Order: sequence, then C-alpha cells, then structure tokens
Amino acid sequence: MCSVVNFNINGYHYKLPVIYGTFYEKAINISQLRENTGLITFDPGFKNTGITKSSISFIDGEKGELLYRGYPIEQIINKCSFIETSYLILNGELPNTAQLKSFSEKIKTFNHLHKEINKIFDHIPNFYHPMGILSSLTYILDTFINCLQEEDMYLHLLAKLPILAALTYRKKVGLPPPHINPNLDYTSNLLEMFFSIPNKSYEQNPIITDALNKILILHADHEQNCSTTTVRLLGSADTGLFSSISAGMSALWGRLHGGANQAVIEMLEDILQSGGNIKKWIEKAKNKKDPFRLMGFGHRIYKNFDPRAKIAKKVAENIIQQLGISDPILELAKNLEENALQDPYFVEKKLYPNIDFYSGIIYQAIGIPKYMFTVMFALGRLPGWMAHWKEMKYNKDPIGRPRQIYIGYKKRNIQK
Ligand code: ACO
Repeated sequence: MCSVVNFNINGYHYKLPVIYGTFYEKAINISQLRENTGLITFDPGFKNTGITKSSISFIDGEKGELLYRGYPIEQIINKCSFIETSYLILNGELPNTAQLKSFSEKIKTFNHLHKEINKIFDHIPNFYHPMGILSSLTYILDTFINCLQEEDMYLHLLAKLPILAALTYRKKVGLPPPHINPNLDYTSNLLEMFFSIPNKSYEQNPIITDALNKILILHADHEQNCSTTTVRLLGSADTGLFSSISAGMSALWGRLHGGANQAVIEMLEDILQSGGNIKKWIEKAKNKKDPFRLMGFGHRIYKNFDPRAKIAKKVAENIIQQLGISDPILELAKNLEENALQDPYFVEKKLYPNIDFYSGIIYQAIGIPKYMFTVMFALGRLPGWMAHWKEMKYNKDPIGRPRQIYIGYKKRNIQK
C-alpha cells in the first residue's frame, strides 16, 4: 500500500499523503496542495472528493452494498425496528433491551409541541408544500427547546418531527391535530398520529407497520449525499442542530434527491394516463434534447444496483399482495424497470432503479399521499442527519469552505 503519491509540477517534486479507509478505499490528501504548489483541485458536484472521515455508513457502489455501522442493510431490515436502527446510527452500537427501553421512553417524554408552535402552524396556508412546512417548523422548534444535555436534542427531534408531519397531513385532509398514544411503539404511534379520526383510534395492521418500519430503515443513512453534506456543512459553521437539519430537509426536497419519490409516482401516473407506452417514455428519457429523465433511475455511487431498491421492490410487492390491493402502478413500474434494464442506454450508463423508484408505491399502499412522500423520507433520514452532525462536531471538522475558479471580468473601473 502506498502512503504517498509523487508528482512533478514545473520541475518541482511533491509528495502527497494517501489515506485509507476500513475497506482500503484510498484518498489523496490534497489539503496542503495549494500551499505547496498554488494549485487547487476542480471537482464540480464533489464527484470525486471526500470531505470527511466517517464511521456511520458505508456504500460499495460496485458491489451494491450498504452497511450501517458495519451491519449489512439486508440484516438490519430483517432483524431491527426503525427505532433500534436510529439508536444504532446515532450511538454506534445496537441497543440492548434496557438501552432500547430507555431510548424509546425518553422519546415519548418529548412527544408534544410547544403551544406557540401550534399557533404558528395554524397560520400556515394549507396550500404550502409539506416539505416547506416541515423544514420551516423544524427551524423554529429551536427557539422552544432548551436542552441541558446534547443527547436530548436528538430525542426531541425524533419525537417532534413525526408530530409535525402528522399535523401537516391532517390539516391537508381536514382532520384535527393528531392523537398521540404513548403506549404504542414509534412506528405504530406514527400511524396513529396520521390516521386516527376523532374518537376512533387507527386500527393497527402488522403488515403496514412492518412495511413502514422497513421503508424508514432503508432511508436512515446513506453516507455523504446532497442533504447529509448540507447538514454537515451548516454544522461546520457552528450552526445549531435544528437549523442544520432544516437545511438538510430543503436539500432533500429537490427532485434529483429525495423529491424523486413524489416525481416517480407522478411520472408513472402520467405514463399510465397517456396510454402506458413504456417504450415511448424510455426514448424520451434518452433524448438529450428533452429534459425528461426516468425518475427513480440512476445514482451517483451505485453502478450495479441499489440494494435499497431491491428491498423496497420486495416490500412493495409484499404489501400490495398481502393487503390484496390491485395496483396498476406497481405493474407499470416493474414493466418499466424491466424494459429500461434491457436498453443499451441504461445498461451502458449503469442506470438502475434507486430507492425512490419503489418507495412511493409502499407509501401509497400505507395510505400516505404523494405530497407527503418526501416528508416520510425526511423522517427516515433524520437519525442519519443527526449522526453526521454529531460526528462532524466530535471530529472537529473545519468550517466547509470550498474554492472556485473565477471566470468573470478582470478588474475594471466604473465609468461615470
Ligand atoms: N434518465 C435518463 N438519463 C439519465 C438518468 C435518468 N434517470 N440519470 C442519469 N442519466 C444520464 C445523464 O443524462 C448522463 O448522460 P450523459 O453522460 O450522456 O450526459 C449520465 O446518465 C450520467 O448522469 P449524471 O446526471 O451525470 O449523473 P449524476 O451522478 O450526476 O446524477 C442522479 C445522479 C441525479 C441521481 C441522476 O441519475 C438522476 O437525475 N436521476 C433521476 C432522479 C432520481 O431518481 N433521483 C433520486 C436519486 S436517489 C436519492 O437521492 C435518494
């Protein structure tokens, strides 16, 4: 294993240190490059830039592998609940029975909103997108929460974000504020908060709870990505946790990132409504003059398959079959996937379904409408965002401040 990279510029010889990760992934440490040579590196979209050392999750994009704290996603999905996964991601180890009980109980003690938040919420017009509402209110929450211990901030967010999500959904469908049942586990309570109606609790169904647990787990962390890096970047400026998470939500909302789950269902509905001609839509996605892309396809890192998409597809098939739903959208999605994966354009560019391709189908089967999909993603990603914020503080990462290559005017004078 080499520990330095040698290179020559203008007759001078330089050595740059190489750092290694757990699986021997390699990086050239260029942090002193400019000081020594006057050069910076140029990498739009950070396609080949590591910004930190992290021990939260690991992706092998070639093998299609995802680990949370070392555990394969396929094991976590079958053996853990979302709340156990949240503990694992935040604290580094799976909880024992006593730790899980105390974690869950403590979250329940924070299961309420300050009355001022409810007042602010009442003034938000109902046509606002739920992601805008969630992000704004998460930011405002900061004002009303004083934590003596840092760990409590994480638990407050785990407790309060589902309430904000349920409030938003219920207002949209004309239901009163959510009923919170502290006797239920985290995911069952989430369903109760969303779907109970006045004087009638939600009838829990293990098929639905299981599907919700699984889809939240699949979203729980995904190393560096647009929203997580946003959270770290804000935190590096000593911005508080709530504001950093709020910014992460705004980043997630974009259609190329977490907003793709809503865009996928909209796309599938469009395809269905326009006669279901899959080949025509695939051609459209390949046409460089057409801005249309196959939503839910492609990923920056996965170049073989996205293991989350494989699991999500199974979860979608199970829930649809077990609930006895007939969903033409699922059939269309499977058909579209099959056709795209046989098309040389998608094969050559290594474009596979990503997590968002099947997640919307699961949410719809649970009863969650399209406009809430990205909010559900945010609830799932919350432990990951918080763990990265915490790790960034612990590592004492420096403030994020990239360089640029200026291509504007040369220095000039105002002519007047
Ligand atoms: N449909 C058609 N063509 C595509 C697609 C797609 N979904 N995705 C990528 N391509 C093409 C691009 O046009 C480009 O072609 P070119 O080399 O001929 O110019 C090539 O594949 C590489 O694409 P990039 O955009 O450079 O890849 P990048 O890694 O920057 O982007 C991204 C990844 C944003 C996910 C992209 O694949 C995409 O837009 N997918 C659709 C949106 C989506 O599903 N987003 C969710 C991602 S998962 C998540 O964030 C939770």
